[in-house]
Amino acid sequence: MKLVARTLAGLEEVLAKEIEEIGGTDIEIFNRAIEYQGDVRLMYKSNLWLRTAIDVLLPLSKFTANSEEELYEKVQKINWSNYITSEKTFSITPIVHSSVFTHSHYASLKVKDAIVDQLREKKGRRPNVNTENPDVKIMLRISENKCSILLNSSGQSLFKRGYRTYGGEAPINEVLAAGIIGLSEWDGKTPFVDPMCGSGTFPIEAAMKVRNVAPGIIREEFGFMSWLDYREDIWELLQYEAKFAVKSSKTKIFAYDKSRQTIRTAEMNADSIEEIKGAIDFEMKDFFKSEKPTEDGIIITNPPYEIRIKTNNIEMFYELIGNTLKHKWTGYDAWIISSNLDALKRLGLRPKKKIPLFNAQLESKLVHLPLYMGSKKAKKNTEEE
Ligand SMILES: C[S@@+](CC[C@H](N)C(=O)[O-])C[C@H]1O[C@@H](n2cnc3c(N)ncnc32)[C@H](O)[C@@H]1O
Repeated sequence: MKLVARTLAGLEEVLAKEIEEIGGTDIEIFNRAIEYQGDVRLMYKSNLWLRTAIDVLLPLSKFTANSEEELYEKVQKINWSNYITSEKTFSITPIVHSSVFTHSHYASLKVKDAIVDQLREKKGRRPNVNTENPDVKIMLRISENKCSILLNSSGQSLFKRGYRTYGGEAPINEVLAAGIIGLSEWDGKTPFVDPMCGSGTFPIEAAMKVRNVAPGIIREEFGFMSWLDYREDIWELLQYEAKFAVKSSKTKIFAYDKSRQTIRTAEMNADSIEEIKGAIDFEMKDFFKSEKPTEDGIIITNPPYEIRIKTNNIEMFYELIGNTLKHKWTGYDAWIISSNLDALKRLGLRPKKKIPLFNAQLESKLVHLPLYMGSKKAKKNTEEE
């Protein structure tokens, strides 16, 4: 069967590689989505193992419709009693770009009517809509007159891994963090440092990757668990396999933040995953006053992108980051994501790569700054842009 895994803009290639690794076939890359072939087991496995997927969808039907009536008729052709009973709740998420269906809300109401009318007729009772926490999440996609109906097998977004009980200042989305680690092509052996770790997302994602811990290992609920054809036996086996897949690792992972409370928060988040206990060295440190912990390594971080505190000068703050990297972190490969594109320029280091990404709704850039050892290379790469 066909499956669709959605992701964030810029992470498509990373996700496609992950899908291949877990056994997906006929992989096709689209804008923020990957289509592939698999079976029920692979659908569950995708939810458990894909670090860069936001959700995994199961297409039910694809058709054209040129009016709301036609949409209603075609949705009624799906045998809904295979997916929902009167006791279950459901929701419809519309994604509509169409001159035929100008109001996504009306289009989704038509789909809802088609579903409840069919079930009421067949069973005498209709299921209720629940937008907060439905048993079955349905997606309606319309592009002009091309419609598709999909079931969301993930339920809540997969970035909700379950470890970030404690937030920090502007925490980064877990899927984005995993995607950035993927984009950096970190080999999993080189020491890893996030010197401004906030709630610890980058180091936690790094530790899970290096120890081969499934990103969904502690999450308790997935959408497919409320489906009528849920195969608990398959899911339990996958979980069991995931527990056995965990590896030990000697790779050093360092997480620093200048705030004592924040570093404590990050530590508590990491502690919620048994499988990464002891993998990360947390320490309260001011980046500008600290030394690199190892001769070489990789830095992945997202510094504050606006400063509401003291200095009140974000440009100077980034200039200071650039100087610190230049003078104290030679031998490292730095990857910095920020939504403050002007401030990024003040780092004063020539990026080897600039990758456009979105951090929540904010247009951002991920820059790769190799901080080579040796005077010639260092000079070449640290010239002002
Ligand atoms: C945008 S947040 C990082 C969010 C983090 N990636 C997460 O997922 O939670 C930036 C962090 O930088 C920290 N920070 C600011 N100035 C710092 C400094 N001089 N040294 C170390 N950390 C600093 C802040 O305390 C804050 O936690």
